[in-house]
Amino acid sequence: MTLRFGAIGRAIAPAGASTGTGEAVERRDGGEAFGGLDVKGAVAAVNSEIHLALKGKDVRDQEEIDNVLRELDGMTDKSRLGGNALIATSMAVLNAAAAAEKIPLWQYLGPLMGHSDGTVLPLPEIQILGGGAHAAGRVDIQDFMVIAVGASSFAEALDWTAEVYRAAGTLLSESGRLEGVADEGGFWPAFDSNEEGLDVLVSAIEKSGRTPGQDVAISLDIAASEFGAERRYKLSRDKQEMDSDALCGMLVDWVERYPIVSVEDPLGEDDPDGLVRFTWAVGKRVQVVGDDFLVTNADRVDAAAKVSACNAVLIKPNQAGTLSETKAAFDAAEKAGYGAIISARSGETEDVTIVHLGVGWGVKQLKVGSFARSERMGKWNEGLRIAETLNQTSGGTQPVDGNLPPRSSFPWS
Ligand code: PGA
Ligand code: ZN
Repeated sequence: MTLRFGAIGRAIAPAGASTGTGEAVERRDGGEAFGGLDVKGAVAAVNSEIHLALKGKDVRDQEEIDNVLRELDGMTDKSRLGGNALIATSMAVLNAAAAAEKIPLWQYLGPLMGHSDGTVLPLPEIQILGGGAHAAGRVDIQDFMVIAVGASSFAEALDWTAEVYRAAGTLLSESGRLEGVADEGGFWPAFDSNEEGLDVLVSAIEKSGRTPGQDVAISLDIAASEFGAERRYKLSRDKQEMDSDALCGMLVDWVERYPIVSVEDPLGEDDPDGLVRFTWAVGKRVQVVGDDFLVTNADRVDAAAKVSACNAVLIKPNQAGTLSETKAAFDAAEKAGYGAIISARSGETEDVTIVHLGVGWGVKQLKVGSFARSERMGKWNEGLRIAETLNQTSGGTQPVDGNLPPRSSFPWS
């Protein structure tokens, strides 16, 4: 996006491997080339129709521009021009607006959001082991993550997690269970059961010198829609097929026995009753996050809040398709008293816009994958740079508080 006076805004759309069915559709070319995954059609849409529709518009009016994009596409799922074409454009517009003001995006957003000091640094949620669709189903659970709940700053949370990541790598290779790294940079483990992942996390936290649950806690993305449909779930690692109640029971049992603070998509996107029951059972003690189930959609968040399905929402801009709709989903979460995590995708790029959105909008948690691979590290490093600027301005260290349910309710804290 080039503005009349020369300011430039860039953005790249990410892609997900475990997508929710309610997401904005990512437009791919199909056919033979690149296995059908090429995006020449989406790029052409940006350079023709979208270019013409936005020419002469004021980039400071993000909502108006996003409305134009939505109307131009004309489909609720954004499949005509492509959710990827739309979100890249929408983010480029915002980046151009900040560039025109010659300030970082998080700073540009801060005053717009009414918190001019831009004080909130998100608490990182970092993947240690990758599974599910990100590791060819080698283990059913998708993300075995940690959250440094006891860390007092963004930098400290990264330090602690880096040590846990290293410790996990050593533990896995010593036991002959390390196969490589998965899509988001987490270790690709060779486990005999899903629960082994939890044991490795606890051991790695301890080996790194931290107390599980107090300093560093466990967070899971079950991504249950990937191994279940119509309330039947097939855990191949555990050689078990379960109904909704049985899976719910297994996860509640894990919450009882392991220092878990957050569980994402514990049941399938088509199993709202299961999600209500799981939230009822553990929602006071842990964060229950809707990703595939809520797909960064304000109406879905409103509807979920009415029945208390989940108590937090994953915010992924490309699920919504425009930044205004992304922000609306975040606002709906805030209104409902739901937690929020701004998140990257399994197919990521060097684009760091989401880190700025997290700080600028005041989203309390940030999930961008593991502690390896530059498309991940670039985002953690961007957070560090923002933290440094904030620390200089305030003359102290900016605290991080993920707004998680109180740890005091955990038996091990
Ligand atoms: P995805 O994974 O980008 O493949 O959807 C991330 C997640 O499920 O949170
Ligand atoms: Zn997820």
